[in-house]
Amino acid sequence: MSYQGYTHILASVDQGVGLIRLNRPQVLNALNAELMSELVDALSRMDEDDDVRCIVITGNERAFAAGADIGEMAEASLVDMYTRDNLSRWDRVRRIKKPIIAAVNGYALGGGCELAMACDMIIAGEGARFGQPEINIGVIPGAGGTQRLTRAIGKAKAMEWILTGRFVSAHEAERAGLVTRVVPDEAVLDEALALAREIASKPPLAVRLAKDAVLAAFDTTIETGLAYERHNFYMLFATEDQREGMRAFLEKRRAQWRGR
Ligand code: HXC
Repeated sequence: MSYQGYTHILASVDQGVGLIRLNRPQVLNALNAELMSELVDALSRMDEDDDVRCIVITGNERAFAAGADIGEMAEASLVDMYTRDNLSRWDRVRRIKKPIIAAVNGYALGGGCELAMACDMIIAGEGARFGQPEINIGVIPGAGGTQRLTRAIGKAKAMEWILTGRFVSAHEAERAGLVTRVVPDEAVLDEALALAREIASKPPLAVRLAKDAVLAAFDTTIETGLAYERHNFYMLFATEDQREGMRAFLEKRRAQWRGR
């Protein structure tokens, strides 16, 4: 599949990993409607592409993304915002079945922080800055920040981050539970790609059902979630990869995954 022809992102596939680079450096990768539309298009196509097992989203040295494009919203009325409904694109990010890793250097603010949180894992450079500064421009997070941040770091911290809008260092974000791992700035993309390639080497159906079950933890009671997990676990006994994985273990050899 070709991933050429986008204007605000660069996309490619290598060694089982789809890489999407947000590419509006002149505005710190502010997420305008066109960029979001291209991002969702590339993600959806990679989700369908058998050559892709895991996806990495990154920005540049200065910014992962400094938020939604303020220029696009500044003079918008409620009716404009409601009828454009740009935020519905974010629902499609949530529905991507393959794992997505955010590789974050620089600013991940507002919608940029929300995009990182919509990914499944965050690898951050030491100089990365996270935050939900919407309060400082008269609004609140609108692409999941009040919900995902609260689930990730708890009410006490989320409330403070969102009500003050302060920027949070990568190390603080990691301690709070938002970030998977902090690495030197120059190592962010390599670490994220290495993690993605490791996940790409795992049995794909198990990866998909594992992601699905972990995300279910956000939507369900413990009872329903445990039943959901059990269902996904049992489902894997209908796959060739379960037979292969367990037999290979017992035969002391390396498993050959078929994704079936
Ligand atoms: C549009 C933006 C932008 C944004 C930066 N720029 N962030 N344009 N939307 N979110 C532009 C600036 O206007 C400037 O353009 C250029 O990028 C460089 O930014 P500077 O401010 O000059 O850089 P610096 O002084 O280094 O400050 C960096 C910064 C600051 C601290 C990140 O840019 C900033 O505070 N940005 C806004 C952060 C924010 O409030 N995000 C939340 C947005 S609301 P020029 O033309 O002057 O060079 C939101 C809602 C989410 O995200 C809900 C829906 C998705």
